[in-house]
Amino acid sequence: MRFVTKKIKEQNSDTIICFIFEDDDKKSEVLKYVDELSNSEITKQIYEYKTITGKFQETFKYSINKNIKVLITGLGKKNEFTKQKFSQCVANATRIAKSMSKNQSIAIEVIENCCQNTNFETKDITQITITAARIGLYEFNKYIKEQNKIETLELLSANTNPEIEKGAETGAFISFAMKFAKDLINESAQIVTPLYVANLATEIAKEHKLEAKIYNKNQIKEMNMNAFLAVAQGSVNEPMFIHLTYKPNTTPRKKIALIGKGITFDAGGMNIKPASSMLTMKSDMAGAASVLGIIQAIAKLQPDIELHVISALCENMTSGSAYKQGDILTAMNGKTIEVDNTDAEGRITLADALCYADKINADEVIDIATLTGAVIIALGNNITGVMGNNQNQINNFREISERFCENTWQMPILNELKDNLKSEIADFKNTGGKLAGTSTAAWFLSNFTKSKSWMHLDIAGTAYLEKTNKETQQGPTGVMIRTLINYILS
Ligand code: BES
Ligand code: MN
Ligand code: ZN
Repeated sequence: MRFVTKKIKEQNSDTIICFIFEDDDKKSEVLKYVDELSNSEITKQIYEYKTITGKFQETFKYSINKNIKVLITGLGKKNEFTKQKFSQCVANATRIAKSMSKNQSIAIEVIENCCQNTNFETKDITQITITAARIGLYEFNKYIKEQNKIETLELLSANTNPEIEKGAETGAFISFAMKFAKDLINESAQIVTPLYVANLATEIAKEHKLEAKIYNKNQIKEMNMNAFLAVAQGSVNEPMFIHLTYKPNTTPRKKIALIGKGITFDAGGMNIKPASSMLTMKSDMAGAASVLGIIQAIAKLQPDIELHVISALCENMTSGSAYKQGDILTAMNGKTIEVDNTDAEGRITLADALCYADKINADEVIDIATLTGAVIIALGNNITGVMGNNQNQINNFREISERFCENTWQMPILNELKDNLKSEIADFKNTGGKLAGTSTAAWFLSNFTKSKSWMHLDIAGTAYLEKTNKETQQGPTGVMIRTLINYILS
C-alpha cells in the first residue's frame, strides 16, 4: 500500500474519512470541503437532523454522488479524547471505508488543530493515523479470494507541514514492519520452519545491506547452546540461529540488542498441550517476526543507533528424540537447567540467546516473547507485561508505549522467586508451580544476561487474538512493534 500526504483539494479518492467531536461545532477543513461538495447537506445532517452526533466510534456514510462517498466518524467528547481512542476510531473507520471504495483509494483527514487543549503533536497524530489505518485495512488473503484491496491511503491536511511528512514517513515504515510480522505469523508452521525464517533473514539482510550471521545446527552446537538444542531435538526441522545487525553511517549513539522468541510451532513437547491450546501455536514465533519487521523499518529510518536482532529458531515437538522431563541441560554460560516441564521451552531457548547477546556488549538488551499463559490471566489480551532490571529503561519504554497507543504494565522480578525454581540437582528447574508464572519466567531469564539494562516483554496475551478486540481483529497484532521502533528512535 502507498501512503501519500495531500492538500485537501488535491485528493483523488472516492472515499473520504473525516472526524467530528461530540461536543465541538468547529468544523475541520476536510469537513468544510466535503460539506461544500454536498451543498451543505452534510452539515445539515450533522447539526440539524443530528443523524450523527459525534459519539465515540459512531459512523455515518454519505454519498455525495456516485463518485464520492464520505464516512464521518465520531471521536467522542473532546475532554475524554485519547490517542488510543483515536487509533481505534481510525482502524474502525478504514475497515468500513474499505468496503465503500471502488477506486482502491481512501483519503483520511489528519486531525491537526482539533486538539488545541491537548499536547498531541501533529507528527505523532500522523504516525498514529497511518499505523491505525493499516491495522484496519489488514487482511491475510493469500489462501482466500482477494477481497476489496486498498492500494492508496491519502492523508489530507489544509496545508503542507513538515511535521506531517515526518510522521507519515515513520508511520509508513512502522506499518510496513507490522504487516510483515503479521503475515509471517499468519503463515502456517508447515511453511514457516526455522530454515524458512533463516532464509528470510538472509534475504532481508541483502535487501537492506545488513550484516547477517546465520548459524545451522552444527554451528549452534559449536557455540555450546545446549539448552536451545535440547528443545529443538524433538523435531525433524532443524534449528537455526539468526543475528542481523544494522549499523549507522556515523558512530552509534547506542547499541541495542533485540531478541525475539522464535518457536515456529509449540506443541508443548512431551508435556503436550491440549488441542485447544495448541491451535494457535504457529504464533509462538511472534517475537522473531516482530524483530525482523523492526530491523527493516530501522534500516529505512537510519537512526544513529546500532541495532542487533537475534532469534533462536526451532520447533517444540513430541517424538522419540524429544527432550524429556528430568533432563539436565547446560546453557552457553555454563548454568544448568533441570527440565521440569517441556512446555516451558521459550525460556530455555531464550537463555542461550541472552548468553549470545552478552557477547555483543550492547548498552541495552530487550527480549520480546510469547512466554507465559500466566500473563494472559494477569493482564488479559490488551496489555503487554514488562519486566527488567533497569527501572529507568522500563519507565522510558512505558512512556513511549502510552504515547503510541499500546498498553503495557510492569510486573516485578523479585529475588525470592528463585524458591519457585529450586532444583536439587541443577542450578534451577525451568518451571515451578502455578504461582507468579510470568514473573518467575522473567526471574529465570535474568540469570542468563549480564546486561544492566535488560528488559523482557511478555506478549503471550497480546501477540495473537482469538477474538477481535478494540482496534485489532482476530489473529496476529504486531504488538509492541510501534513502541519498540519509537523507543529505538528516541
Ligand atoms: N508459548 C507458550 C505460552 C503461550 C500461551 C503463548 C498461550 C501464547 C498463548 C509457552 O511456551 C508455554 O507453553 N508456557 C507454559 C509454561 C508452563 C508450562 C509453566 C504456559 O504458560 O502454560
Ligand atoms: Mn510452551
Ligand atoms: Zn512457547
